[in-house]
Amino acid sequence: MLGKLTVFLLFLLLVWGNVVSGLGAGLACPDWPLCYGQYIPPLKWDIILEKGHRVVAALTGGVLIGLCVQRLLRYRGWSRVLPLTAVFFLAIQILLGREVVLLKLPVNITTLHFGMAIAILSLALYMAFHDGAENRPRFSLRGISGVLFVLCFLVLVQSVFGAYVRHSGSGLGCGVDFPRCLGFWIPPHISGSVMIHLTHRLIAYAVLLTVIALTVSALITNNLGRIKNTLFAVLALLLIQVAVGAGVVYTELHVMGTAFHLLIALLILSAVAYAWFNNMKETGV
Ligand code: HEM
Repeated sequence: MLGKLTVFLLFLLLVWGNVVSGLGAGLACPDWPLCYGQYIPPLKWDIILEKGHRVVAALTGGVLIGLCVQRLLRYRGWSRVLPLTAVFFLAIQILLGREVVLLKLPVNITTLHFGMAIAILSLALYMAFHDGAENRPRFSLRGISGVLFVLCFLVLVQSVFGAYVRHSGSGLGCGVDFPRCLGFWIPPHISGSVMIHLTHRLIAYAVLLTVIALTVSALITNNLGRIKNTLFAVLALLLIQVAVGAGVVYTELHVMGTAFHLLIALLILSAVAYAWFNNMKETGV
C-alpha cells in the first residue's frame, strides 16, 4: 500500500513538474525554500502551480522516507542498500531542486534533476513490488531477466535523454517533421539540436525493436508465458508513445502533449520493471 502510494505520488510529481515547466512557471517562485520569502505566497496561477509542486514534493519525500524505513526493517543483507540509496538520492534531489531555481534552470542541472527523479522512481518501483514479506527482494540478470533489466535501463536512459531534448530546446530539432527530419530521412548537416533530437528517436526505435522481438518470441515459444501479457502492454504503450511523440512535434510541443508523453514514458518504465520483477519471482531466483 505504502509502495503503491509512493509510486502514485512520484508519477503525480513528475507530470506536475513537466506542466509547471511547460507553462513557463518554473521560476514563478524566485527563491527557495520559501516563495517570495513567505510560507503563503501571492495567489497568482503560476505561483500556485510552482508552490503546489513544492508541496507535493515535500509530501512525496515524507511518504518515500516512510517506505524506505519500512523496507529497511524488513529487508536483509545486500537489499538494504536499496532503501538507503533512495534516501541518499532524495537528499541530492532536494539540493538539485534548489540549484534549479537559484541558477535559473540551467540545462545540465534540470536534466540531472529529472534523471534523479527517474532513479528514485525506479527504486520506489522495486520496493513497491518487493515488500519484504510475501515478496523477498531478488536480483538476477540471468537469461530473460538480464534482457528485461537492460530494457529497463534503456527506457531510463531514453527518458533522461528526452529531458535533455526538452531542456536543451531540441524538441523541434527536426522541425515540424516526422518520421523524416527537416524533409530528409538522413539530413545532410547533422549537428547540435538535430543530433540530439535524432538520437532520441533512434533510441526509441531500438527499444521498440527489442520489445517486438521479445513479444514475437513470447508468441512462438512457451517460455515467456509468465510475462506475455505485460510484454503486450509494453508494446501497446510504445506504439502509443511513438504516436504521441509525433503529436508533440506536429503540435509544436503543446504543453498537454508533452505531459502525456512523459506519463506514457513513466508507464513504459513501470511495465518493463514489472515484467523483470515478475520474471525473477516466477523463475524463483
Ligand atoms: C521509447 C520511446 C520514448 C520515450 C520513453 C520517450 C520519453 C521522453 C521523455 C521522458 C521526455 C522528457 C519529458 C520531460 O522532460 O518532462 C521526452 C521528450 C521528448 N520526446 Fe520522447 N520518448 C520516446 C519516443 C519519442 C519519439 C518516437 C518521438 C518522436 C519525435 C519523441 C519526441 C520527443 C520530443 C519532441 C520531446 C521534447 C518535448 C519538449 O521539448 O517538451 N519521443 N521523451
